[in-house]
Amino acid sequence: MQTMLISASAQAEAGTSMGADLIRSGELVAFPTETVYGLGANGFDGDAVARIFEAKGRPQDNPLIMHVSKKSDVKLLWAHVPKVAVTLMDTFWPGPLTLIFNRSERVPDEVTAGLDTVAVRMPQDRTARLLIQKAGVPIAAPSANLSGRPSPTRAEDVLADMDGRIPLIIDGGPCRYGVESTVLSLVGKPTILRPGAVTREMLAAVIGEVQLASSILSPMRDNEVAASPGMKYKHYSPNAEVYVVTGSAQAAAKRIAMMYREFEAQGKTCMIAATEQTKNFYRGKSCEVLGDRSRPETLCANLFSALRDMDKYADVIIAEGIDAEDEGLAYMNRLLRAAGFKVERA
Ligand code: TXA
Ligand code: MG
Repeated sequence: MQTMLISASAQAEAGTSMGADLIRSGELVAFPTETVYGLGANGFDGDAVARIFEAKGRPQDNPLIMHVSKKSDVKLLWAHVPKVAVTLMDTFWPGPLTLIFNRSERVPDEVTAGLDTVAVRMPQDRTARLLIQKAGVPIAAPSANLSGRPSPTRAEDVLADMDGRIPLIIDGGPCRYGVESTVLSLVGKPTILRPGAVTREMLAAVIGEVQLASSILSPMRDNEVAASPGMKYKHYSPNAEVYVVTGSAQAAAKRIAMMYREFEAQGKTCMIAATEQTKNFYRGKSCEVLGDRSRPETLCANLFSALRDMDKYADVIIAEGIDAEDEGLAYMNRLLRAAGFKVERA
């Protein structure tokens, strides 16, 4: 299959019209969102949704998020709409917040992977919403990467993983947030299953106490029941080995420089995921500056693209860990998984 790339800025109408036609005829379309690129199919067509799992090599028991272009569409997807959801939708939609609640009859099993609940989100990205609106159906979409790889935040990353597997990629440029949406379950006490740009603090300010799933900063144990099946799998992994070093900027940089020399002595090509605060310390070493340690959203925005870029020539990537607070929680959640939890405290 030939994969076509259409620019959303130059041809927004043509791209979304072609995309909507493909979605309605049961095909897959990759599209930009403000978080990461999605790989979409008609959310009411079980056979079309099954193609997503095939194209990504995604485990069958990992459910998908339904993307809608207007808030009232949740009524089609949920058994009913709880009050707390209305408050959250009014505050954070459109935006990077996914809400989970009991599913309606209309949602195919392929979307929920057999669960009684379904995840829904209304993206902020204009192209994404235009595509959903023109398709006239909710779009089921995971991130548009091959399963296990870092999520794509640029059209070229989608192409690298999906070339020949899907007919169309709509190129909306780099994604604003760079990490996937916050996933919040509203079944029982509100619980964050995956942290994102809508932080626990932001949610708590609106609805009161919000719990954090236990596996956010630690690996799932084999006997643990997954609240969110996606937490079980190896994630965000480049081919290179990734190490995380936590501690103050200065202590981490010192330790990283030492590790760098050790890996080099072993004949390995090493790269450092650096920050504004530490970049001068790494002079003469290969590094990519992700952003500012005190503004974790800047690190989030560049994490996945940097992992993909460094992976092109590094055997080993060493990254600075930061405090897992505010958006730093989303950053550490993704980074620790990319590293397979290989973390050192400096
Ligand atoms: O920002 C995002 O959320 C992006 C863009 C494309 O919207 N999408 C995304 O989808 O990250 P995906 O499939 O890569 O991640 C969805 C996560 C998975 O961890 C999955 O297990 C979880 O949400 N999930 C989906 N439905 C669920 C449900 N009913 N119960 C628990 N977890 C669910
Ligand atoms: Mg994903």
